[in-house]
Amino acid sequence: MGFAEVQIDQVKDYWDRRPCNIRHSTQPVGTKQYFDEVEARKYFVEPHIPTFAEFPRWSEKKVLEVGCGIGTDTVNFARHGALVTSVDLSVRSLEIARQRVGVYGLEKQVRFYSANAEELSCYVPVEPYDLIYSFGVIHHTPHPESVLRELRQYTRPGTTLKIMVYHRMSWKVLWIVMTEGKGKFWSLPDLVAKNSEAQTGCPVTYAYSRREGRDLLERHGFRVRDSKVDHIFAYRIPDYVQYRYVKESYFRWMPSEVFRALERCFGWHLCLTAEA
Ligand SMILES: C[S@@+](CC[C@H](N)C(=O)[O-])C[C@H]1O[C@@H](n2cnc3c(N)ncnc32)[C@H](O)[C@@H]1O
Repeated sequence: MGFAEVQIDQVKDYWDRRPCNIRHSTQPVGTKQYFDEVEARKYFVEPHIPTFAEFPRWSEKKVLEVGCGIGTDTVNFARHGALVTSVDLSVRSLEIARQRVGVYGLEKQVRFYSANAEELSCYVPVEPYDLIYSFGVIHHTPHPESVLRELRQYTRPGTTLKIMVYHRMSWKVLWIVMTEGKGKFWSLPDLVAKNSEAQTGCPVTYAYSRREGRDLLERHGFRVRDSKVDHIFAYRIPDYVQYRYVKESYFRWMPSEVFRALERCFGWHLCLTAEA
């Protein structure tokens, strides 16, 4: 079965079972300490996110975040003074994101919607935004094209679109195919979906070449201004799940400039910035 045939409820159930990054802290879920630790771990492991999001730039601006998960980026947009509309399919993720916004006293700046982004305009009032932001989401929905079509309605000339989708020509894909797939390149889409996230068995995970990522946006009337590849997860997983950060030996000894060059060519995150 192709990803386009997957039912949206399967996607919702998967993310409700284990919201993204929910185990980034061992503190009780919902406490300030928990949320502080989740954020620290996320931006430690993925330091390119604040650079890509440019949180301070959106102060006093309207931001539409599609697929907010448990709200790490949501609170950072809000903290920097943005007015944020955050949407997610997973009710459990939204509950935690709502709690999080409350813990930091940012309720007045954020409104949440439980919605399928493929039918966004059925749930979220159509109005123009300054920034539409979606990090690691569109590749998990059965019909990414439908999301782009919907997003177009939330733009005005000059709206910025920032989207991260997974990059196919990446170290991570090679690692999945060689370790989990024992070299079965012909099963690549299924292998990637099965192993792309912390919890195995993601029902939908598309991965794009740079050209395909660009075309996805341009087909829907966005002009891509910047396209960057970033992020290789360098840590040993048995240590990482115990909250220790020990790099794989081959990355440990690699000069940092070489590692950064590798990330920029074969990173897992294809970060696209476009304009409406
Ligand atoms: C990998 S997580 C990323 C969460 C967040 N952006 C982050 O970086 O922490 C993917 C999120 O996309 C959401 N998602 C997947 N398909 C969606 C859809 N069609 N509409 C809305 N949200 C969706 C999932 O529920 C999940 O919370």
